[in-house]
Order: sequence, then structure tokens, then C-alpha cells
Amino acid sequence: MLFTRKAAAGVWLFLAFERVLTAQIPVSSHTPSSFHPGVENDLGQWVLDEGPAVNATGHLVFETANSLLQHWPNTRHRIGHTIVPGTIPVGTILYHGALSGPHLPTALDWVAVEPDHSTYFCKGPIETGCWHLTLAVTRPMKVLYFDGSSAARLLEGTMDTQDLVAWSEMKPKWVWNEERRIKDLCEWGEKYGVNGFVRMDMNFEIMICNFTSHMEIVSFLNLESMRIGISTDPPPEGLNTIRHIFEFMHSASWRENYPGETRIMLDFSGLVSFYDTALVPSLVSRRVGLDRWDHRVAGISPEDIESVQDRLAQALARPPATTSGFDWKTVLRVVVDRYASRLEFIQHLLNLTLDDGSIFDHAQQIQRQLRTVLFPYTVFAALPPNTSVTANATNSWAAPVFRECATSHAASIASRGTTLTPSEHLLLQAVRETTHEICRVVTKMWASGMNFGVDAFYPPEQRPEDDHIHALIGEWKEDVTQLISWLDWSVWVKCRPACGFEEMCYLPTWPFGFFPTPGGPLQAQWSRTTVLLYGQTQTKGNGRDHNPSVSDGGSHMKDDSDWQATKGSSGVAFHSRIWTA
Ligand SMILES: *[C@@H]1O[C@H](CO)[C@@H](O)[C@H](O)[C@H]1NC(C)=O
Ligand SMILES: *[C@@H]1O[C@H](CO)[C@@H](O)[C@H](O)[C@H]1NC(C)=O
Ligand SMILES: *[C@@H]1O[C@H](CO)[C@@H](O)[C@H](O)[C@H]1NC(C)=O
Ligand SMILES: *[C@@H]1O[C@H](CO)[C@@H](O)[C@H](O)[C@H]1NC(C)=O
Ligand SMILES: *[C@@H]1O[C@H](CO)[C@@H](O)[C@H](O)[C@H]1NC(C)=O
Repeated sequence: MLFTRKAAAGVWLFLAFERVLTAQIPVSSHTPSSFHPGVENDLGQWVLDEGPAVNATGHLVFETANSLLQHWPNTRHRIGHTIVPGTIPVGTILYHGALSGPHLPTALDWVAVEPDHSTYFCKGPIETGCWHLTLAVTRPMKVLYFDGSSAARLLEGTMDTQDLVAWSEMKPKWVWNEERRIKDLCEWGEKYGVNGFVRMDMNFEIMICNFTSHMEIVSFLNLESMRIGISTDPPPEGLNTIRHIFEFMHSASWRENYPGETRIMLDFSGLVSFYDTALVPSLVSRRVGLDRWDHRVAGISPEDIESVQDRLAQALARPPATTSGFDWKTVLRVVVDRYASRLEFIQHLLNLTLDDGSIFDHAQQIQRQLRTVLFPYTVFAALPPNTSVTANATNSWAAPVFRECATSHAASIASRGTTLTPSEHLLLQAVRETTHEICRVVTKMWASGMNFGVDAFYPPEQRPEDDHIHALIGEWKEDVTQLISWLDWSVWVKCRPACGFEEMCYLPTWPFGFFPTPGGPLQAQWSRTTVLLYGQTQTKGNGRDHNPSVSDGGSHMKDDSDWQATKGSSGVAFHSRIWTA
């Protein structure tokens, strides 16, 4: 939607945040890998001590593809790295707040997926109200989706993938030139029959190239004015604005996690990723040593821009009927479902501090969890004979278990390799690299548990010494922490404990929480406290001592570390107390 600079800047939050969680763990390097797909029958390839290559991007392709059209992960990592064709099915209802009376837009314009979003733009005087348009899709609408917070007009790179499509280069000077952007995108898309571009900031929105070609009017209503004020308005307008914004955020939260925004159906077989190192090799060296938060599309070479445009053109020209039939969204999700909560639980068990009296039982409990994860792959023939498990650094006896675990998800897809599109090959490789690493680490941990004598099925002659168990737990902790950090799945970033009825878990979302620097563009400024109380700004260098006097009395910001949400927001979730006074 066309947030004006003023509207974005003038909006403030009347919410008190409680900093709950910092799940971000520094990415650490791994030893180079000898992982070569296709040599799966050679057990020598299944080495438990070799982590993924530092430049490998399979896990990044995996997590971005697994996060498409979900609000939470795309708010957490704002810089989009994926462009995907999609379709909006017949019958989908879309909304538009008319700024100037009951006129259907004749020019290029925006629609929202929720009325809580579009009514923000339904502006009119209290005396005459405002005009709100409801539309229905009449034939499948071809769209192109830019992931990340692709509607956030930020200079840090949120618009880059769109700029490359519209202009074949990044134009930071035009970051606010939305009219030009939509015009040039639509012109570009015309030859492929693309009628819309899907983006996200507070919620998903669609830039529509022609309002009459794929939609019909369901209703065009003269509504009571929303009475949305700007920051200086006196009550009740000011309070009303806050409530409206809260409900806007609330409606976006319905699309927070899997399956995300289901009204837009993506064609994964045409997905283009800037993490595709074969398609976009120029970005590999740019990412060396950087956290995912700092990954940018800026710096891409002109040749690679051309390759991306060619790949997109191929994907858009291809009729959807030629796709292989794999449901990639589910293929990815099954992997996340299988491992996310179990790895998290294992990490939780490892986080508990224990006295020596209970440590052996505790290690046995963790070993049981590891066995549960691996059980479908614990090939009988590979298991060591009873009592013969002795400390052996290579744990090579466990290689068959590792192999079965790692190949179970993708082997059948790989066997149909010839029918796959280049995008599907990329996704296949992403699943393989991701499951390879999960299975490597879990097998390594489980085999260590056997070695150390904490597996109840393989009891040692005498109970292992506490020192040894502590060493084992330390090793396990390191393994699981590195794995979770490498995978960096957004499903692990959440408010703990979970929110109550009157709360909502929230990540700083453009434009709420972003304020103009004097003379400069909007930037995330949570590092300079941005919780504004009604009518007054509480500005502190950090969140320390910040104790907003919220009238519901319950919620306050608890924060005594540095309040760096610009970066930290990649892993910080907040409880927002719904303001009900
Ligand atoms: C929009 O689509 C309608 C119906 O297909 C068509 O008649 C009209 O010319 C199109 N408008 C523009 C500006 O292309
Ligand atoms: C990672 O990529 C950089 C830049 O291309 C290269 O210098 C480095 O050797 C690569 N590292 C590995 C382990 O492949
Ligand atoms: C375990 O502790 C680490 C480090 O404090 C933390 O980041 C992580 O979220 C904790 N995990 C669980 C599941 O409690
Ligand atoms: C570990 O086990 C492998 C295979 O069983 C064996 O070849 C190797 O010699 C063992 N290493 C040690 C240190 O016992
Ligand atoms: C190993 O031996 C112990 C007792 O000697 C027995 O309780 C246990 O079930 C055996 N485990 C396996 C896997 O055979």
C-alpha cells in the first residue's frame, strides 16, 4: 500500500513490549565438506565429523523457500532473496480503500488481502465517510511474488529484487518512487501475462496492473470514516488509530506461520533464488563471513542479473502443466515438522542445569530422544554387538544409520531428476544438504551417547563417571547449538512463554517501529527506544529503566541488554500487550 512517508513516520505504538527471547546464535564456521550428491552408496562418504561447506547455501534456500508467504519469517529477515510466480484463484476476495470517492482505479494501484489493511486507506471526512471497494477475482490471476519485507521502503535492500526486475539495476534514489515502480513492473510483466506483484510489509498486498481484466466489483460501500488521526490528534482519534493499527497487526498475524497466505498459490517449480550459487555466483564472495541478517542482493554482477531475468522469463513462459507434480511446500514442511520440535526439546534438556545425582538419568533421557529421532534408520546390521561399544572417535559403525536418515527425504525425488526444472533441482539440493546436516549431527550425538555408555539398551559394565557425562553433555550442547544456528529456522523464534489472550507476539515490522532520522530515510530505530506512549515519546538510549506507565498496569519493557532490534530483531520476539483501556 502507498504509505506516505508522513503517515509511516507519524504512526506510533501504544504498546509495551517485553523482550522475551534472544534465539539468535552467532553463525560459526564448519569444516569444508566432501558432500557430493550421487555417491550415496559409498559408505566412506558418510563421515560424521565433516560439517557443511562454509559457502554452502542449501540451508538458506531451504529456509527461505519454506518461509514463502509467511509473515513472521519474512519480517524477521527483511531482505528478500526469492522471486516466485504464482496464481490467485478465481473467487478470491480482495480489498481497496479508495482515496477519492467511489471511483474504480483506472491507473495502476494496490489491493489488500484483509480489509483491516485496506480500510487504513479509506479516508474521508467524518461528515461524508469514505469509500471502500471489495473485489472478486474472475479468472486466475498470474502474479509474481517478492519475498522478504518487499513493500518496506527501506534503503537497506528490501526493494532490491523488485528493482532488478523493473529496472535491471538497484535504484536507491527511487526507494519511495512507488508510482514509477508499479508502472515499470507492470510494463515488464505484460509480455508474460503477469497482472499483479505480491509484496509484504504489515501484511501481504498486491500491486494490480489492470483492475478490470481479472476482477469484478463485489461492493463499493460508503463507510463511516475510520477516524484515523495522525500522531498529534487529540482523543478519541488518536486512540482509535492505535486500536486500528493493532487490529491491522492482528489480522497479519493470521498469516504468520505455515501455511501462510494461502490465497496466493506459488509455483515452486519456477522459483528463482539469489542463494542459488549456480545462477548467481557473484554473490557467493559477498556473503563470506556475514551473518544471514547482513546478506544483500546488492553487489550482484550484471551477468547474474541477466541470468536471473532469463530464468524468470523461462518460468513465466512455461505453462504450469509441465511441472513435475511435486508439492514442494509440503516436502519442505515435512522436514521441518519432523525435526523442529525434537531438536528444540533436546536443546531444552541440554539447557537444564543438573546436579551430579541426576546427571546420568538425564543423559539417558537425552539419548532416548536421539534414538527416537533416528529410530526409523537404525539399521539392525549396523548396530554394534552388545557391550562392544567402545569410545571410537570416528564412529564409523554408525555410517549406515546416517546414510539412511539423510537420504530418506529426497532419494525418490532425486531418482526422477530428469523431469525436474532448474528451480526444482535447486530445491532438491536444498532438502538434501539440510537433511544431510541434521542427520549427521543427530547420528554423531547418538553414537557418542552409545560410546559414553548412557544408552539404556547398551548398558556399560559400570556406570560412567560424572566427569565423562559432563563432557558428553558439553559436546552434545555444542553440536545441537551449532546445528540450530546453521538451520536458523524461524519456527524457533517465538515468545516464551507463549502469549496470553490479551497479548500478541510481535517482531518490529515496517513501518511501525521505524522513525525518520533527521533529514534521512526511515530506519529501524528500536535501538533508540521507540515505544511511544500516547501523546508522549519515551526516548531512552536503551530500554534500561524504561517503565512506561501503561494504564492496564501489567506490561512493561524488561530489557537490560542493549536494545538493538535493528539487528537483534532477527531473533527477538516481543509480547505486545493489547491495549484495552
Ligand atoms: C484492462 O483490461 C480490460 C479487460 O481485459 C481491457 O479492456 C483494458 O483495455 C485493459 N486496460 C489497460 C489499460 O490495458
Ligand atoms: C568461499 O567463497 C570464497 C569466495 O568465492 C572463496 O574465497 C572461499 O575459498 C570459499 N570457501 C570455501 C570453503 O569454499
Ligand atoms: C537454550 O539456551 C540457549 C542459550 O542460552 C538459548 O539460546 C536457547 O533458546 C535455549 N533453548 C531452549 C529450547 O530452551
Ligand atoms: C574405530 O572403528 C573403525 C571401524 O570399526 C576402526 O577401523 C578404527 O580402527 C577404530 N578406531 C579406533 C581409534 O578404535
Ligand atoms: C545388552 O545386554 C544387557 C544385559 O547384559 C541387556 O539387558 C540388554 O537388553 C542388551 N541389549 C541389547 C541391544 O541386546
